[in-house]
Amino acid sequence: MGTATSVEEARALAAAGVDAVVAQGGAAGGHRGGWLRDELADTLALTRAVAQAIALPVIAAGGLMDAADVRAALDAGASLAQCGTAFLQAVEAGTSTPYRAALASAAPGETVLTRSFSGRPARGLANRVTAEVVSPLPYPLQNALTRELRAAAAREGRAEFLSLWAGEGVHRGREGTAAEILAGLWPE
Ligand SMILES: Cc1cc2nc3c(=O)[nH]c(=O)nc-3n(C[C@H](O)[C@H](O)[C@H](O)COP(=O)(O)O)c2cc1C
Repeated sequence: MGTATSVEEARALAAAGVDAVVAQGGAAGGHRGGWLRDELADTLALTRAVAQAIALPVIAAGGLMDAADVRAALDAGASLAQCGTAFLQAVEAGTSTPYRAALASAAPGETVLTRSFSGRPARGLANRVTAEVVSPLPYPLQNALTRELRAAAAREGRAEFLSLWAGEGVHRGREGTAAEILAGLWPE
């Protein structure tokens, strides 16, 4: 499988012989999978376009937070939905305490696309690093440069220096076991 953020990438993956393509919209949390031209597409529109462009199973990703979202992705032509942010507050997740607190208090529109932590674009909650580190080095140099900062922030519980990866649906996230969260994502 490979990740596509555009129809162009989906076609290139199909030509390379993958078995399935993840269509990653701009709402997705964490690092982006774009590799030819990172496009911040609407997840459902991208899923629809990719499903029409290639004859392979498509997995929709980005901002899918409840059963209605998953239903809409399947209706748009996806075979599966990939959810990341929805599971960050799961009991089983390795999410640190300050990260969990930031997720729990997130409001709509609080995520940003940033290169401040690693040098590559990733979506997370805005904090002091995303606001003040304005000229990051290219990946992987910036990633190495901020590693100790992130480790120290985790030890001291200081969210302002942590990478708080989260998608645009973060304010709709819930706590619970992974099984409970999965049940809430399952379409009828
Ligand atoms: C904490 C976190 C880390 C992630 N890291 C990566 C990554 O390194 N590379 C990548 O291609 N996608 C990464 N993702 C994106 C996921 O693969 C997936 O596309 C995304 O979580 C789906 O959108 P959602 O978070 O809105 O559910 C990450 C997502 C999260 C939440």
